[in-house]
Amino acid sequence: MNGIKLKGMGRCVPEKIVTNQSLAEIVDTSDEWITSRTGIQRRRHCTAETHTSLCADAARAALARSGVTPDQIGACIVATVTSNTLVPSAACLLQRELGLPTDIPCFDLNAACTGFLFALHTMECLLNASPRKFGLVVGCEVLSRLINWEDRSTCILFGDGAGAAVVECRAGWPSIGAVLGTRGDDELLRVPGVETGPRNFISMEGTKVFKFAVEIVPWCMDWVLQKAGITVDDVDFFVFHQANARIIDLVVRKYRIPPEKYYKNIAEYGNTSAASIPLVLSELQDLGRIGPGSRILAVGFGGGLTWGGALVEFA
Ligand code: UT7
Repeated sequence: MNGIKLKGMGRCVPEKIVTNQSLAEIVDTSDEWITSRTGIQRRRHCTAETHTSLCADAARAALARSGVTPDQIGACIVATVTSNTLVPSAACLLQRELGLPTDIPCFDLNAACTGFLFALHTMECLLNASPRKFGLVVGCEVLSRLINWEDRSTCILFGDGAGAAVVECRAGWPSIGAVLGTRGDDELLRVPGVETGPRNFISMEGTKVFKFAVEIVPWCMDWVLQKAGITVDDVDFFVFHQANARIIDLVVRKYRIPPEKYYKNIAEYGNTSAASIPLVLSELQDLGRIGPGSRILAVGFGGGLTWGGALVEFA
């Protein structure tokens, strides 16, 4: 199978900044607790923005950054659990918004916080079978709509945002070597669907998910490295799902990863689920910390339960 590479990243976050202090005015919490337990200081919540506008703005930025035009796109996947409508999917609305070709598959993918990595792997498979060799992968969430303001252990965690990648598939490029896993569990992390009507809140057994995360992230890393036949030292940059700064700190300590080889933006955005990995990639590209030639190991985990890792490179 021919591999894909990242051609260009883009992102969009809502304007409204919600600080820990402002949350402490409406729920029984404190800036000190949130910062020390999660690393989060601020998050963005949508007001005027919509799921579609976040997706479209992030995607437009990625197209501009990559020099690819909408008519060159061979498939579009939006990784999300918070699309505005179930039908049409967010990807269908994005097709209309951007004027993507009508003879390509555009669809949403739900793998919670691992969605972007599931989508990258799916895109690699799709582009191998497509005459058009560029694909659009978006991770977008409006999690502020799912917050239970009576649950202080979850309401402080989540933020809204979108990250997008234009990817290219070319003969001879190595596969991203994605490793993906799934174990059905509707107790640790849950967002009810149509069964329960309009009050669809996120509920989470935080401590159990934390334990799952610190076990599964190293497992994903080892699996990716083993599959590629490389070691930690061969990786230029590590990109982790931003769920809790303490999870990232534990992993980087375990693998002795130096500060210049990983990145945290959870202080600014909180947990943005499927948007978190592409938001990090987009910021890093703008900062010039990753680019052509960088070998990046990305790892995600989340509801489902789902988990995954992949080796991504820039074209
Ligand atoms: O992206 C998908 C994957 N998600 C994750 O990876 C999330 C993983 N889990 C976590 O990040 C952490 O478990 C949380 C941040 C959600 C919670 O941190 P914790 O250290 O596991 O806290 P806890 O739930 O065990 O609660 C400890 C204490 C409790 O008080 P008592 O029972 O010890 O008196 C909670 O009531 O902290 C209390 N607490 C809070 N206090 C102030 C819980 N939430 C808050 C809060 N402010 N917001």
